[in-house]
Amino acid sequence: MNTKKLLLYGLASLYFTGNAVAQEAKNEETLYRSNYHFTPKNNWMNDPNGLFYAEGVYHLYFQYWPYGNTWGPMHWGHATSKDLVKWEEQPIALYPDRFGYIFSGSAAYDTQNSSLLGQNGKAPAVAIFTYHDPVKEKAGKIDVESQGLAYSIDNGQTWTKYDEGNPIIKNPGIRDFRDPKVNRDWINNRWILVLAAQDKAQFYASENLKDWKYLSDFGLGVGAHGGVWECPDFFPLKVKGTNEIKWVLLQSLNPGGANGGSGTQYFIGDFDGKHFTLDKTFAQTLSTEKAAWLDYGRDNYAAVTWGGTPDEQYKRYLIGWMTNWDYANVVPTQTWRGANTVVRELELVKDNQGYKITTIPVKNLENYIVNTEVQKKISVKKSADILTKNKIDFTKADISLTMSQLKKGMYTLVLSNEDGDELRFGIDNTKEELFVDRSKSSNATGFHKFTAWGSKAKLEGLQKKTKLRFLLDKTSIELFYNDGQKVLTEIFYTKSPFTRLSIESNQNFEIDNLTINQLDFK
Ligand code: FRU
Repeated sequence: MNTKKLLLYGLASLYFTGNAVAQEAKNEETLYRSNYHFTPKNNWMNDPNGLFYAEGVYHLYFQYWPYGNTWGPMHWGHATSKDLVKWEEQPIALYPDRFGYIFSGSAAYDTQNSSLLGQNGKAPAVAIFTYHDPVKEKAGKIDVESQGLAYSIDNGQTWTKYDEGNPIIKNPGIRDFRDPKVNRDWINNRWILVLAAQDKAQFYASENLKDWKYLSDFGLGVGAHGGVWECPDFFPLKVKGTNEIKWVLLQSLNPGGANGGSGTQYFIGDFDGKHFTLDKTFAQTLSTEKAAWLDYGRDNYAAVTWGGTPDEQYKRYLIGWMTNWDYANVVPTQTWRGANTVVRELELVKDNQGYKITTIPVKNLENYIVNTEVQKKISVKKSADILTKNKIDFTKADISLTMSQLKKGMYTLVLSNEDGDELRFGIDNTKEELFVDRSKSSNATGFHKFTAWGSKAKLEGLQKKTKLRFLLDKTSIELFYNDGQKVLTEIFYTKSPFTRLSIESNQNFEIDNLTINQLDFK
């Protein structure tokens, strides 16, 4: 081949390869880019960080590697929302510096300027995060992680590192020492911080967000300990419908989650200003079940909350990273990797078995309903087609149904398409379990752990009547049982969108109410 031909050949193959890459990116955009769950435009995202609310805007930061689609040296990405449903990505907020990468952490809007970091009457937002020093790590040192501070006086858009005081919490000789979560302690009128110290949570208190006093540890011998503890959150909540206050600790761990890999557990108890002690009935629950999980699904990790505003002190909104460290680095998207769960309202309820946390989708999601169809009293003789594609777009749907006259047996909802993908979920009323089976829903090859069966959660006895609500996006299902008493979040990657929803059972039963909400986010 002469040089000219070679050049032409080279250009042509570049063109075709370039085209193939562009085509692939387009396919994954169409097939896998979430309709309403937050995803970064490009590259790698993990944990939600720095959640705070100021002047009508909710801020969400996230663990971000801007130059690659697998985990890398961590920055904080940024996104904002006015309603906790629609997100707009913003410029990168925090970059690594001489102390290391910027690992997970939190933020507070310091309305009273207790930190004295405000300027010209403008209250500062204060971020407290983990510095992870890769040089020390490489040298095999223990004191790799410490806590740093940065502040913003332009509503979280740009940040200044607090160089004169960093790190504000030094490493006490614990290798895994990270993920500080700061909250306003309305009861003791100060700031409270919790961080993960290997296999425990550690509590600190401060008047000014800069000087922190160590209070106590929690966690030895309680709850799940299958892996290292990470990303805690700690706050007071009112028991629903009462004025009784209890303290809640959220505690992620990896591995050792409810159905393997990453998961977030919770604890309910009392806090005397220094020590957190488990509520007695809650402790009893733990003695039989070992751990209480915020979500029993495989795909809700590092879940943390937005703190209440001064007028909504006990309101908590939760968001999690919707994947699992078991396979997060290999899910089949190239342009970006990682999505968040839908924002959920977190409540503390008390029933005759004691206290528990429930989570349901944020109410504002209702504002995106463009069509609702309700069907009442459907008698199901073992199986029935519920919906087909010409009725609904299953990639943005919020569907609820109440089933009654249930007996022992299986009650399985089946989403399917013409390409042979299936997602099966529902109630196994013989084993008394809620389940999601995604083993036939995946186009993805080469990452065996992902195609693992799915997840299940034990229910409290035989179900006679059950309410299920599920949110669907292109690659996720979030299944809420009885107003969020148990939740399963699972991701999947199908060859084409689902086109049909049916229900199968080995029993006859009733669907009292089926509500199909079509969502749209244009
Ligand atoms: C949890 C986690 C955190 C850490 C961050 C690093 O997923 O391991 O403990 O701060 O991710 O990206």
